[in-house]
Amino acid sequence: MPTNDPDKRSIRSFVRRSGRITPSQKSALQNYWQIYGIDFAEKRVDLPRCFDAVKMEIGIGNGDALLCMAAADARSLYLGIEVHEPGIGRCLNQVHRQGLDNVRLIRHDAIEVLQHMIPPASLDRVFLFFPDPWHKKRHHKRRIVNSRFRDLIYNALKPGAVIHIATDWQDYAEWIAEQFLADERFDNQGNAEGYAACPSYRPLTRFEQRGRRLGHGVWDLLFAKRRCSS
Ligand SMILES: C[S@@+](CC[C@H](N)C(=O)[O-])C[C@H]1O[C@@H](n2cnc3c(N)ncnc32)[C@H](O)[C@@H]1O
Repeated sequence: MPTNDPDKRSIRSFVRRSGRITPSQKSALQNYWQIYGIDFAEKRVDLPRCFDAVKMEIGIGNGDALLCMAAADARSLYLGIEVHEPGIGRCLNQVHRQGLDNVRLIRHDAIEVLQHMIPPASLDRVFLFFPDPWHKKRHHKRRIVNSRFRDLIYNALKPGAVIHIATDWQDYAEWIAEQFLADERFDNQGNAEGYAACPSYRPLTRFEQRGRRLGHGVWDLLFAKRRCSS
């Protein structure tokens, strides 16, 4: 039977968590969304033109990495995409507190944002930090990195621009490397296996620091959209 419930339309890379939203996150959504938020719409977004570059992070969580990168790079516009409302609320509070004029947030499925809102060849960099690994084999279909994702990223990036992915799940790192290495539209920026050194702009989150202390590995993968040769 056809369904209008967007959560049932297709396989998603997330589950909507019913996590509690704190009063402070709620008031951030009420007070700051109209300043830093962009409502999802099935039409191209009109991005401010006063920035040197546009960089997008998919799945910002609480926004820790986004805030850090935006604070260090005021000439770039940072677009943060996340479905989890408390995370958006927390990030909005920090954006306001830190006076970050170069951050905009979209609270929606990044796949649909890429499909409908992002103009072709408009992004200077895409970040995907610690995407849900969906480690059970029967859940692999939920992994955000797949052929549809690569198509959307390819369309959204400027020629020569890079997607930077980091994961602490080796099996997922191998899955990502395998797909991008086989995709002739992208140039690998890492070693023969597809892994690169962590660029200095990527902050180490508390989660990652803890993982590293416990001896867990982290893999950074960077792939550039190949420039057309004519
Ligand atoms: C494991 S968390 C990592 C969060 C953050 N990047 C970090 O490093 O702490 C993955 C996040 O991606 C979000 N997410 C997953 N699929 C998404 C999608 N299709 N669109 C937007 N956000 C998504 C989830 O809600 C979750 O907050």
